[in-house]
Amino acid sequence: MLRSRTGYISGQELCDTLGVSRTAVWKVINQLKEEGYQIEAVRNKGYHLLEAPDILNAEEIESLMGTQWAGRQIAYFPVLDSTNIQAKRMADEGYVHGTLIVADCQNAGKGRRGKNWSSPSGTGIWMSLLLKPEMEPNKAPMLTLVMAYSVACAIREKAKLDVKIKWPNDLIIDKKKICGILTEMNAEVDYVHHVVIGVGINVNTEEFPEELEDLATSLRLEKGGLIRRAELIASIMEQFEVYYEQFIKTGNIAFLQTNYNQLLVNQDREVRVLGVHHSYEGIALGINETGELLVRTQDGTIQNVFAGEVSVRGIYGYV
Ligand code: BTN
Repeated sequence: MLRSRTGYISGQELCDTLGVSRTAVWKVINQLKEEGYQIEAVRNKGYHLLEAPDILNAEEIESLMGTQWAGRQIAYFPVLDSTNIQAKRMADEGYVHGTLIVADCQNAGKGRRGKNWSSPSGTGIWMSLLLKPEMEPNKAPMLTLVMAYSVACAIREKAKLDVKIKWPNDLIIDKKKICGILTEMNAEVDYVHHVVIGVGINVNTEEFPEELEDLATSLRLEKGGLIRRAELIASIMEQFEVYYEQFIKTGNIAFLQTNYNQLLVNQDREVRVLGVHHSYEGIALGINETGELLVRTQDGTIQNVFAGEVSVRGIYGYV
């Protein structure tokens, strides 16, 4: 209620709406202050929320969420093995399409290709969105691109940073990784049971281990200020819901192609495509309407690169 009001909200209105005593309201206001919320209390006017801390819990995220279904049901855990693993457990337990699993800390965070994903407490967004889409399994890789674009838009809007997409799974600021996405699917050849899109964003990380210093960065390091994780999560869900619905309606991501390509860090650059059996170099021309990366090789032919099949690097390094 404090959040939804731009001006003051009287203690009496809080009591009446919530059906509690003035003392109960006063106690909760003090509790919020202890948690780091800055609340102004003015006699005869009421309470006013000046600033919220970077608190991550279900209530905080729910109070900011403006979506219909994406992230409407939130499962928050202070500590988890991995939000992707938890999402898969919850899919089997019957949790609905759009359930969002968020952890403050993961002790078995998973990166792509079996790597670990460091996920310390208080520093990042470690979350997984559970989807139960009615779509052919071969379309699922496009969901990663839809999520990458949604996260990029939310970061651009909330943190005002020039974030780019390294096709298909990573977000980059100034050649350093800020976010990774791990999409996992449980499907039969012609039927998707569920898809889990795991998103890891370095938000308020202040220091990286030496071996990662040149490769990874955080929103805080780039922006020089604290970012509230709950706000960013809500914004990502809002973007994702809109683009997901367009994707489901049209069956492809043609509607995203131009905007996506504008954010593509590899666009018009030399890349090396590393396949399982062979690798080659070429110029990245952008994605097509199904999310494949088009690469023009030295002999002038254009290769369609499928996400998941290969990894793409800049020829002088990661980007
Ligand atoms: C990568 O770039 O290798 C992908 C990293 C994905 C990390 C996120 S953090 C939330 C979710 N849970 C996991 O265990 N992994 C993903």
